[in-house]
Parts: sequence; C-alpha cells; structure tokens
Amino acid sequence: MESRRFGANSTVSGEGRMRGKLVVGNWKMNGALAANAKLLDRLVSGWQSSGPAREGAARGLAVCVPFPYLGQAQAALGGSSIAWGAQDVSAHASGAFTGEVAAAMLVEFGCRYALVGHSERRQWHAETDLQVAAKARAALAAGITPVACVGETLAEREADATAAVVLRQFAAVAAALGTDLPKIVLAYEPVWAIGTGRTASPEQAQEVHALLRAALRKAGAADVSMLYGGSVKAGNARALFAMPDVDGGLVGGASLDADEFLAIARA
Ligand code: 13P
Repeated sequence: MESRRFGANSTVSGEGRMRGKLVVGNWKMNGALAANAKLLDRLVSGWQSSGPAREGAARGLAVCVPFPYLGQAQAALGGSSIAWGAQDVSAHASGAFTGEVAAAMLVEFGCRYALVGHSERRQWHAETDLQVAAKARAALAAGITPVACVGETLAEREADATAAVVLRQFAAVAAALGTDLPKIVLAYEPVWAIGTGRTASPEQAQEVHALLRAALRKAGAADVSMLYGGSVKAGNARALFAMPDVDGGLVGGASLDADEFLAIARA
C-alpha cells in the first residue's frame, strides 16, 4: 500500500493512520559538561522559536546522550518539547552486571528513548540480534521507546545481502516483542554511511525502508516510525525525509552542532 505525504510533519500510511515524524541526535561518545550546556541551551531556544516547523509533529526532536550526561539533559530539556534518551540499555532488570545500565534507571532520568542495536554496539561489542531484541524488550517493559537500529555493512551490500541482513535483524526484534512491536521506532543505518560522509541516496534509503515497512505491516506494525541514519546533514535531510517511508533521521556527527541539528529537524 502506498503512503502519501500529509502536512509538514506527519505521514498518513496506507491504512490511514498517522506516523510520527522524529529526528533523534546520537551524540555517541562525545560531550563535556560545559559544551553540553551550550548545545542543549541552543537547542531549547532554537526549537522553541521554530514555531510552525513543529506543528503536527507527533514526536519531534530528541537527543541520545552518554549515560553520565542524562541528568544534565534532564535538567536542561525538562519542560521543553525536546526529549532525551540513552544510547544503550541492559537486557537485564538489575543485579550483577557490572558496567550495565538498567531501563528502570533510565526512567529515573526521564528518558523517553533508548537506542538498541546501533551498529557500533554490534561491531565493537559483538552484540547479537538476540541481545538487541532482549534490550528492546527490556526498554519497553520499563516504558521506554527502543529505537532499534538495523543496517548492512559495505561488504554485505556488495554481496547483495542488504535485504537479508536488515530483515534478519528486524525479525529478531519482531519475534521478541510480538504484539508490542508497534511501540518501537525503527532506524535504518547502513554501516557504510555512518560517519563516512557517504550518505545513502534518498532512493537507496527508500528501497530499504520500503522492505522494512512491508515486514512491519506483515507483523501488524505498519505505523512504526522509521528513521534513516548515516551522514545526515542539513543539506541532504530534506531529500531523504521526503521519501514516503522515511519518517525522520538518526543523526550522529551533525547533532553536535545546534544550528545544523535544528536545520535537519526543520527539514
Ligand atoms: P553520522 O550521522 O555521524 O554518520 O552517524 C550516524 C549514526 O550512527 C547515528 O546513530
């Protein structure tokens, strides 16, 4: 079924329901108290003055910050219309898991979102599809929206395995969540486009998003918001977000610059 554009900040799916538009910043392992304070302050004042650009936005804008800065984000963004979240969450509720952070702890810091399965976690921390799925379940159980990330490496794309890889990664999350699947946000981040300055073309992004949309629909979750991530900048966001199955972006490097990030959000 076709989707059509509807207003500035939402899309009506083939089923006639609204999918929320969302732009999420992923600071990764960047930041320092003083620099964060400036960035957050500029985001709050800039987003507040965006006015019409925000109308109809079902979810809007969020930043996922390193764990130690969650309290700072909560203090700076609380009361604003910008949400915040973590970049990871433990699959476990509590106990002897040194270095892990439980979803219930994120709730205490007001997190609305937690990234799960970012390719950097899969690559450098050997996270498996099943672990990612368990993290998504733990987040949801605590009332946090998991932003579940999927994406193929360059080698996988060149081996024509893109569809198989992203559908396998998606299927693990779908199987773990069952009827809760509609509560997630899904992010497609081709690994070859992350931090490389090499963005997927809008058509490449749409092709994979359409595949994932079909899988979501089959799983009874057609209206899940789907973000594209990988070298999103102010200059390419509009064309990417204009694609029928792209509902927003997951932004790394450009989210560390308030003006650039706000320009992406307004796109
Ligand atoms: P860049 O926007 O820096 O390419 O990072 C994308 C990303 O990994 C967001 O999670």
